Amino acid sequence: MRIALGADHGGVALKDHLARRLSEQGHQVNDLGTHGDESVDYPDYAKQVAESVSGGGADRGILVCGTGQGMAITANKVHQVRAGVVSDPFSARMIVEHNNAQVLCLGARVIGQGLADTIVDAFLGAEFEGGRHARRVSKIES
Ligand code: RB5
Repeated sequence: MRIALGADHGGVALKDHLARRLSEQGHQVNDLGTHGDESVDYPDYAKQVAESVSGGGADRGILVCGTGQGMAITANKVHQVRAGVVSDPFSARMIVEHNNAQVLCLGARVIGQGLADTIVDAFLGAEFEGGRHARRVSKIES
């Protein structure tokens, strides 16, 4: 899978861990930064990742900040991007199966690395169910 990754200073350590892990799993990772501890603005990274997904350059996006919230708020402003903050594996699966989300937002100050790994696995392993959910998702777009 082609996966775009982004983080601010609050999420960079977890993002770097996920980038390594996803690469080792054979995914094609596009790490759009940030790349250090310096304080940066999360909307800059959310925009890049969301536009990569909406433009077809990535199949999925993963964004990490302190809470995941600012990333999700920003990513959802990009046309046809559906992003959500997730802190448990069940929601990670459902946000794809029912909501057809392409962007996962994580809070590095909320969850630990082990839980993040489990959440990412569930998110990437899920597929949209379509059917009645497609009707509902199309109402979001309209
Ligand atoms: C940065 O301090 C923090 O506001 C950011 O990482 C994120 O939690 C915003 O939603």
